[in-house]
Amino acid sequence: MRGKFKKAFLLFLFGALGGVSLAGCSNLFAVDQTEALQKTEIRVGVVLYNTEDPFVMRIYDSIVACAEQEEEISHTKIIVDVLDSEYNQSLQNTQIEQLIKEKYDAIAINLVDRVEASNIIDKVKDAEIPIVIFNREPVPQDMNKWNEVYYIGSHAAEAGEMQGKILLDAIQKGRKIDKNGDGIIQYVMLEGEPGHQDSILRSYHSIKALEEAGLKTESLAMDTAMWQRAQAKDKMLEWIEKFGNKVEVILSNNDEMALGAITALEEKGYLDEKTIPIIGIDGLDQALEAIKADKMLGTVLNNADEQGRAIFSKLYILAANKSSQFVLDYQSTDKYLWIPHQIITKENLK
Ligand code: GAL
Repeated sequence: MRGKFKKAFLLFLFGALGGVSLAGCSNLFAVDQTEALQKTEIRVGVVLYNTEDPFVMRIYDSIVACAEQEEEISHTKIIVDVLDSEYNQSLQNTQIEQLIKEKYDAIAINLVDRVEASNIIDKVKDAEIPIVIFNREPVPQDMNKWNEVYYIGSHAAEAGEMQGKILLDAIQKGRKIDKNGDGIIQYVMLEGEPGHQDSILRSYHSIKALEEAGLKTESLAMDTAMWQRAQAKDKMLEWIEKFGNKVEVILSNNDEMALGAITALEEKGYLDEKTIPIIGIDGLDQALEAIKADKMLGTVLNNADEQGRAIFSKLYILAANKSSQFVLDYQSTDKYLWIPHQIITKENLK
């Protein structure tokens, strides 16, 4: 029997029912160890939309670290093979066909184009190879095409709301954001890929949070920098040229782009975030450094380590044909698992 995500279950209760939860990474799920492991070797494929994205690579690193830990604990050989789809959906489709042909036990997929999951799901369903899609959320119609398709991610709207909250908290603590005193917050928004759920919802909900708190806002400019630092730097240089000191806040759909904006500000002689506050999302190490150095007001932790741990756990259980129950207190349904975000500012950074 294959595992399904179940509503959170208390670990001690599961213990009392006779199951033993594994230590290490698959302790996200209570695996019934009385069931014999049906395989001595499992092979999982991890297909990434591109391998130059630091956030996605952090998820991947966590998957690999978990596989290594689990191999030691379970004495099952665990092979994790990674494929780079190089921003190319048709290349990704071919790569997945290859993994199907080679009879991988389970596949984790970071789609290139999140609305192009349908064909992939048809193929893995025919081959009966379960998949865990992550980070780029397919549309519900595709998710519902087969039982053995799972999604692990974080709620995009929540990240946007938290960005708004970071700014609101700063204002409440006396930070003057409205530099020109016109009663309106003039902002620029660096956006991720068009059509990506994290671009659309993060942008929308960050502003909504501000407006719901009674602030008036005005967008001076918003444009995509495709999640990338270099593109964000160029965009920001353009905006500084155009708007100069009129920019009162820089909201960025991710940290990479926020870091690009910082470089642009530094080049143009705006020395730190005290001049123009910048808020990102992801919680990359370099963003945390920038916050400590007062170059960024804050970020929202998009917990890549925990997402990787959950992805590995699910893959392992699916690949090993074990039954399982979801045990940690994360929001989940049969097919979806959501890892919560967390606000990071200088105050809670040690
Ligand atoms: C987002 C993340 C971005 C980028 C994107 C790729 O969740 O915040 O930095 O990695 O996923 O899909």
